[in-house]
Amino acid sequence: MPFSVTPNTIAIWLHLLGAVVWTGSLLVQALIHSPLFSGVEPTQRARWSGELTRRLMPITWGSLVLLILTGIWNTVFNPVSSEPVTSIERLEALRRTPFGSALFIKHIFIVGTILLSGWHNFVLVPRLRRMLPTSGATLSSEAHGVLRLISWAAAVNLLVGIGVLFFAAQVLFSLR
Ligand code: HEM
Repeated sequence: MPFSVTPNTIAIWLHLLGAVVWTGSLLVQALIHSPLFSGVEPTQRARWSGELTRRLMPITWGSLVLLILTGIWNTVFNPVSSEPVTSIERLEALRRTPFGSALFIKHIFIVGTILLSGWHNFVLVPRLRRMLPTSGATLSSEAHGVLRLISWAAAVNLLVGIGVLFFAAQVLFSLR
C-alpha cells in the first residue's frame, strides 16, 4: 500500500487539520480589517468584527485544543528519538537535535499567537462590543481607537501564525 493508517499518521493528519483551522481563523479575523473591506463603514466593520470573532471562538479555541493534544502526541512519538519521549531527560535530548530546536522556536511563536489571540478575542473585541452605538449613531473616538488596536492585533497575529508555519516547515526540513 502506498500509504499507511496508524495512530501516528492520524495524529499528524489531525495536527495539520488543526493548523489549517487555527491559521484560517487568524486570516478571517485579519481580512475583515484589510483593504478588501475598506469600503465598509467603521460602525458596520466593528459590528462584523465582533460578531465574526464571537462565532469563530469555539472553532478557533477548539482547534488549539486539538493542536496541543496532537502536538504532544507528535512530540512523544517523534521521528528522531529512538524511544518515546516520556521524560524530561528525553525531551532535553530531543531539544538538542535540529528537529527539537526548530520545534522549540516554533513553540515561542505558538505562545505569541495564543497570547495575541487571547488579548484580541477576550479583551479587545468584548471592549469594542460594549462601545457599539445602539442604532444609527456613529462610533465614538474611543471606539475608533479600540478598532484600530484590534486591526493591528489581528494583522500581527496573522504574521506570527505564518511564523509558526515557517518553523513547522523547518521541523520537517530537519528530517532531510
Ligand atoms: C498554533 C499552533 C500550532 C500550529 C499552527 C502547528 C503547525 C504544525 C504544522 C503545519 C506541522 C507540520 C505537520 C507535519 O508533520 O506534516 C507541525 C508539526 C509538528 N508540531 Fe505543530 N503546530 C502547532 C502547535 C503545536 C504544539 C502545541 C506542539 C507540541 C505540544 C506541536 C508539535 C509538533 C510536532 C512534534 C511536529 C512534528 C510532527 C512530525 O513531523 O512528526 N505543535 N505543526
